[in-house]
Amino acid sequence: MLNEFKQLKEEYPDRVLIASIMEEYNKDAWQELIERVEATGVDALEINFSCPHGMPERKMGAAVGQDCMLLEEVCGWINEKATVPVWAKMTPNITDISQPARVALKSGCEGVSAINTIMSVMGIDLNTLRPEPCVEGYSTPGGYSARAVHPIALGKVMQIAKMMKTEFGNTDCSLSGIGGVETGGDAAEFILLGANTVQVCTGVMMHGYGLVNKLCAELKDFMRKHNFSSIEDFRGVSLQYFTTHTDLVKRQQQAIRQRKAVRKGLQSDKEWTGDGFVKESESMVSN
Ligand SMILES: Cc1cc2nc3c(=O)[nH]c(=O)nc-3n(C[C@H](O)[C@H](O)[C@H](O)COP(=O)(O)O)c2cc1C
Repeated sequence: MLNEFKQLKEEYPDRVLIASIMEEYNKDAWQELIERVEATGVDALEINFSCPHGMPERKMGAAVGQDCMLLEEVCGWINEKATVPVWAKMTPNITDISQPARVALKSGCEGVSAINTIMSVMGIDLNTLRPEPCVEGYSTPGGYSARAVHPIALGKVMQIAKMMKTEFGNTDCSLSGIGGVETGGDAAEFILLGANTVQVCTGVMMHGYGLVNKLCAELKDFMRKHNFSSIEDFRGVSLQYFTTHTDLVKRQQQAIRQRKAVRKGLQSDKEWTGDGFVKESESMVSN
C-alpha cells in the first residue's frame, strides 16, 4: 500500500491523496505508521475510529470512536506526530455522533468524516437456524452500507454539521459525508447539510469507477439548475430548516389558524349569501 501511495502521488502530483489508516491501541505503533505513510507524500490522513469488523475486540476502530476519553488520548498521539491535516472517521454505532466528533476536533483534528458502516445482522437461515453470513456454523455482526444507510448517514452528518456550525463556526474545520452515495443528488444532499467533501465506497464496488463521472455530471446539473457556481454557494443551506418536533407542531397549528383566518368566506352551508356565489365557492377550495 505504501508503494501504491507513492506511485499515485508521482503520477498525479497535482491531485489530493488522503490515506485512511488504523492501528492497535499503542502510541508507538500509531506514530510509526503515521511517519511511514507521510513519507509517501500523502496530503492528509483519515483515521479510522469506526471500523466495526472485529476491531472493537482489539481496542481499535469503533472501540475508540465510541469512547470519548480513549478517542482524546489516541487523537493526542496522532496529532503530536502528524504533519499533514488529519480527519477522524466517525462510527454511526453511537447515539450522539456529535460527541466524539467534538472531541476529535478539540484534540487537533482538521475535520471529521461520517459515517462508517452500521452494525447489522444480515439474517437468519430458517433451515439451519444459524445467523448469516455463516463461517463454520458461526457468525458475527458486520457493517451495513450502500443505499439503505443513506438516510441514516444524512441524519448523522446533520448532527455533526449543526454542532460544528455552533461550536467551530469560525474555524476552518471540515466535514466529509459518506454513506449510500451513488448519484450527484446523493452528494448534493450531504453538501446541503454542510459537508465539504463526499466519499463513495460501496457505490464504486457495485457499479465501477465510472459511477464517479456520472455523479460529477449530475452534481454539475444540480448546480446549474440552481445557479450555484461553487460548492460554497450551497454548502449547509438546508441546515437552517431543521428545528425541534415541538416547533414543527407549533408552526403547523399557526399555519392552520392563518388558513382559517384567510378563509373568511364560507365555513359551512348555512353561510351562503347567494350574492357572492363565486367568491364563496373559491373560499371553500383554496386553502
Ligand atoms: C467492503 C468494505 C470495506 C470497507 N473498508 C473500510 C476501511 O478499510 N476503512 C474505513 O474507514 N472504512 C471502510 N469501509 C466503510 C466505508 O468507507 C464507508 O464508510 C461505508 O461503507 C459507508 O459508505 P458507502 O455506503 O458508500 O459504502 C468499508 C466498507 C465496505 C463495504
